[in-house]
Amino acid sequence: MREFESEDGVMLFGGARVTDLADEFGTPLYAVDEDRLRENYRGVRDAFSKHIDTRIHYACKANTGLAVLAALAQEGSGIDAVSIGEVMTCLKAGFRPEDMMYTGVNVSDAELKAVTDLGVMVNVDSLSELERLSRINTELPISFRVTPGVGSGHSAKVTTGHDGSKFGIPRDRIAGAYRRARELGFKATGIHAHIGSGGQRAEPFEDEMEVLAGIVNELKEDGFDLDFIDLGGGIGVPYRPNEDEMDLEDLAERVTGIMREETDVETLILEPGRYIVCDASVLLTRCVDVKDSGAKRYVGVDAGFNTLIRPAMYDSYHHVAIGNRFGKACTAKYDVVGPICESGDALAHDRALPDPREGDLVVIYNAGAYGFSMSSNYNSRPLCREAMVRRGKAELVREAEGIEEMWRHQRIPERLAR
Ligand code: LLP
Repeated sequence: MREFESEDGVMLFGGARVTDLADEFGTPLYAVDEDRLRENYRGVRDAFSKHIDTRIHYACKANTGLAVLAALAQEGSGIDAVSIGEVMTCLKAGFRPEDMMYTGVNVSDAELKAVTDLGVMVNVDSLSELERLSRINTELPISFRVTPGVGSGHSAKVTTGHDGSKFGIPRDRIAGAYRRARELGFKATGIHAHIGSGGQRAEPFEDEMEVLAGIVNELKEDGFDLDFIDLGGGIGVPYRPNEDEMDLEDLAERVTGIMREETDVETLILEPGRYIVCDASVLLTRCVDVKDSGAKRYVGVDAGFNTLIRPAMYDSYHHVAIGNRFGKACTAKYDVVGPICESGDALAHDRALPDPREGDLVVIYNAGAYGFSMSSNYNSRPLCREAMVRRGKAELVREAEGIEEMWRHQRIPERLAR
């Protein structure tokens, strides 16, 4: 897990005092450290590209903040997009259509048309999608998503590559899909798989590469020469103190070793989402209430699962610190809970904290991946603000939503108006 420095007992994030960020912009606030974001991007790119030509397609579902995207566009990243909304958001942030690949699942004809009209290539998920796409656009190159029969992930809810998964074309039908694509007039240039999200071991990625290499060679005999193998995303990050980081250099060496030995495909594509944004952002939330229920102590904060759903949805661990009493001795264990009217609304359970008080600033670590992007208006709470911090200077990059904005698409029928 990433460690932070402090100044006079106040945690520093991106060179700024977290209390200053909260005072200036208000809470709840997602803060992104731009330098860390860029370092993470470069780290994963460099680890792999020293072995083989590598393109990073940032999986923007992890965080579609325009400022985050603009920084990654400047770095030269590509994009893995899953919806027309993501495609258009990335165009807005400065990516070009040719930098993107669209990997949707269960997508409508209307969406296939919209995406290909914009010039974005499709990574086809099913035989049904292939036939439907052939009636819409055969000009752009395509690739196929295969179900590799290898699954990995921090939760069954995000494991995708196993046999029987809803994603991709089964291995025993994939050669037929390429042949059918050729008949339909497509040029298939690559192959893709994604085993799941938040894996911490190299072996499943090696197994995935073995499967893809086998398919590539089988296809070669059939006259298909692919330009790229796309291994998807899924590189995990440590969320707990003392949890080991995944050894990227080792992963890169192993996976590219298999690719180079077993295939003559020249380009590797990776789609990391979490790895790039996760530890580049924290969620700052104000302690508004402290309660001792007898059986349990609670720290009540102004962010709930409307703001960060991962603990409620996946039982995910997010480290918690008191930003204005950073590193001080802990006094007791607390649950950190939000303003949502459900008992499941907790950001953390049984955490030793240093005498939390009303007004304290609570910092939730590793909030950059699937934090804001999964937030909601539940309990009619507006979406929160975001700031980008760079070398001690902070800018607001997303205003808090207004209450009125939550109604903007609704109508009260005339007969019900009062
Ligand atoms: N590529 C594809 C096709 C994907 O479906 C995903 C994630 C990625 C890449 C990026 O995976 P990453 O590198 O971020 O692990 N909401 C969950 C994670 C869902 C991941 C969905 N697909 C969470 O909060 O843990």
